[in-house]
Amino acid sequence: MPFGLVSAWNKRRRSKSQDHTDPWTYKPAERWQHEDLTPRPAKRLHGSSVFTLKEMEEASLCFSDENFLGKGGFGRVYKGILRSGEVVAIKKMDLPLVKEAEGEREFRVEVDILSRLDHPNLVSLMGYCADGKNRFLVYEYMPKGNLQDHLNGIGEPITEWPLRLKVALGSAKGLAYLHSGSAVGIPIIHRDLKSTNILLTANFEAKISDFGLAKLMPEGKEAYVTAKVLGTFGYFDPEYASTGKLTLQSDVYAFGVVLLELLTGRRAVDLSQRPNDQSLVLQVRNTLNDRKKLRKVIDPELSRNSYTLESVAMFANLASRCVRPDSTERPSMEECIRELQLILRTNSKGLSMALHKLGLN
Ligand SMILES: Nc1ncnc2c1ncn2[C@@H]1O[C@H](COP(=O)(O)OP(=O)(O)OP(=O)(O)O)[C@@H](O)[C@H]1O
Ligand SMILES: [Mg+2]
Repeated sequence: MPFGLVSAWNKRRRSKSQDHTDPWTYKPAERWQHEDLTPRPAKRLHGSSVFTLKEMEEASLCFSDENFLGKGGFGRVYKGILRSGEVVAIKKMDLPLVKEAEGEREFRVEVDILSRLDHPNLVSLMGYCADGKNRFLVYEYMPKGNLQDHLNGIGEPITEWPLRLKVALGSAKGLAYLHSGSAVGIPIIHRDLKSTNILLTANFEAKISDFGLAKLMPEGKEAYVTAKVLGTFGYFDPEYASTGKLTLQSDVYAFGVVLLELLTGRRAVDLSQRPNDQSLVLQVRNTLNDRKKLRKVIDPELSRNSYTLESVAMFANLASRCVRPDSTERPSMEECIRELQLILRTNSKGLSMALHKLGLN
């Protein structure tokens, strides 16, 4: 998972490198550990902490197999208990030599961006450890793990349609917050949204994680052209893949793929299929606006009495617009939120009318 350093960041770094009170001034992570006179938003003062390697080892029982939660592109994630008693997820950046520079960059970018973000639908970064060559990120622990596992039979299945709508809505809100720019003054593109980066609380509240690939939109520009195409196969915006033109709408495309996973229970990419059928978008694109065909792709795990066909059709239509090849034809995340709220209302109204007809309410 390669990473290209944020150009806007560099620009700010060049122009403001003398300004020590500027929170955007780039500093090596080690220095943050020792001197940090920069004024911080409240969340950082109350939340983010710096940990030692010893504390990380203690918390995770020396990164024991029992505490292992999962592995991603930049390392392994372990459950841990801090000295304060708080339960956390520790991302141990386990970098092969060739990737070390990229990994360090991801680490610093993630720490700096995440420590400024504060939203109920984003996984909080509670702290970090930069001890010698070791790098760790300490996140709030998400007891139900990632969404993909729940859709693919590894975790407890999500059989109720309203619960899937709630997950979609929560993820949309987290993404809209990033896109709004209210967090750090300029919009943030996640760049690696996917169902393993949507984590769930005990109540199935969705929170988006992993901002290591986040790109900051240069002010006053709609798109940042990058030489490298980054992200995860299956969630790639085709326009981004072919032109390298990165926009907020690339995240909308990936969000559309997540909506399709919620609708069908299938994987974004299924390598056991023939090459033309491997991508979920290609598999279902022609069914999404045809109610007869749509019935055939609805996840059979979904409890039939939890959804109305009307709400599923509205959801499929939204997903189909999110994954349109032309990025300008996709909705914004704010529009997705409004539509998902309407879909939730339509579903509960339809269900209660059906119960009423049966004399059950
Ligand atoms: N905060 C957390 N709380 C609980 N489990 C987590 C947390 N963060 C990650 N995990 C678990 O660890 C797994 C690996 O996460 P990781 O982010 O390293 O990989 P990924 O999401 O599959 O890929 P990528 O590296 O592209 O993000 C996740 O799929 C999730 O199940
Ligand atoms: Mg992840």
